[in-house]
Amino acid sequence: MKEKILILGGTEFVGRLLVEALTKDKTKELFLFNRGRTNPNLFPEVTKIIGDRETDDIKKIKAQHWDYVIDFSSYYPASLQRTIDQLTKTVKKYIYISTISVYDFGTYIRGEKITEDFAKVTCTPEEAIDTTMRTYGKKKMACEHVLAKADWLNTIIIRPSIIYGKHDPTDRFYYWCRKIKKTNEVLIPNQGENKLTLTYADDMVRILLHAINENLPAGAYNCGTHLPVSFNQMLTWMNETCEESCAFFGMDQQTLKQEKVALPISVLCDLIIDSSKIKLASGLQFQSFENSVKTMMAYFEAENWPTCKVGISDQAQKDLISKIKTKAS
Ligand SMILES: NC(=O)c1ccc[n+]([C@@H]2O[C@H](COP(=O)([O-])OP(=O)(O)OC[C@H]3O[C@@H](n4cnc5c(N)ncnc54)[C@H](OP(=O)(O)O)[C@@H]3O)[C@@H](O)[C@H]2O)c1
Repeated sequence: MKEKILILGGTEFVGRLLVEALTKDKTKELFLFNRGRTNPNLFPEVTKIIGDRETDDIKKIKAQHWDYVIDFSSYYPASLQRTIDQLTKTVKKYIYISTISVYDFGTYIRGEKITEDFAKVTCTPEEAIDTTMRTYGKKKMACEHVLAKADWLNTIIIRPSIIYGKHDPTDRFYYWCRKIKKTNEVLIPNQGENKLTLTYADDMVRILLHAINENLPAGAYNCGTHLPVSFNQMLTWMNETCEESCAFFGMDQQTLKQEKVALPISVLCDLIIDSSKIKLASGLQFQSFENSVKTMMAYFEAENWPTCKVGISDQAQKDLISKIKTKAS
């Protein structure tokens, strides 16, 4: 008998990469539950259960007994509760994709490492049903509380940082790759000194496969996949893959705000996510940030550098850099 895996989502970014990996595992039978809106033609060989989890459609998952449920699409505590109400005790593991936005960055002291015990945000009943992104982290925290109350369920919570990799619909990381490749002078937040810890989608998939297949203890795990690195260093690695070298021009947060410019992945201070818990528990080694950055540059080169959906245009960047130069002269 094959083990049954239900993926809630599975057709956009990390979910899609995980499904790609799991289709190679002949010991598992895969099922996807989603609305059939995002890349509906992917994975024709996989059974699809079509429905909106925010409605009674979620009751469709009751028809089967699942061994594993991997939840990429839960943003509201009430609908997560409805989802787990459909499950039986046959579920061996419920793997929930949360976020580092559950941490209360208001209390963050520069340079501090964010471990799983770091202070969390809270969520009021009004915020729990708010449909804006403003309450994203709060609702995800409330979802984690729902899972904590379901003590019969063996739950693994994964908290990724900003994720980069193939099929990223946000273009946040791609923005920087493209600017480095296509422009010789790049506008950066502050002086590029702030440190980042991001999550590489391929490594996150390896964590999820480990969580499914191996004996990972229940609990919450940060999922940053490299050691903290400065913004400048990330851009320098991108630049090393290009023939020409770029100059970086820093603009402080206040001026960026005055100019009404929001640069992607523009962290206000260091973002140091401590992921030693998952590393220790899984024994996994992740790719070096340098290698994955260079792999992504090669990937976008092969994709022929498509238009970027976020950030500022090349012309707007040029105009802002001119202002910096005028001020300095
Ligand atoms: N991207 C990041 O940087 C980042 C960082 C931290 C955490 N996360 C977390 O990562 C998760 C998303 O990851 P992903 O994009 O890699 O997942 P994914 O599984 O590849 O894509 C999202 C899936 O959810 C389905 N979906 C969305 N709304 C639905 C609904 N109401 N009912 C049923 N299905 C629905 C979509 O299909 P349909 O549209 O066809 O329904 C799609 O298959 C989220 O939980 C997010 O909080 C992301």
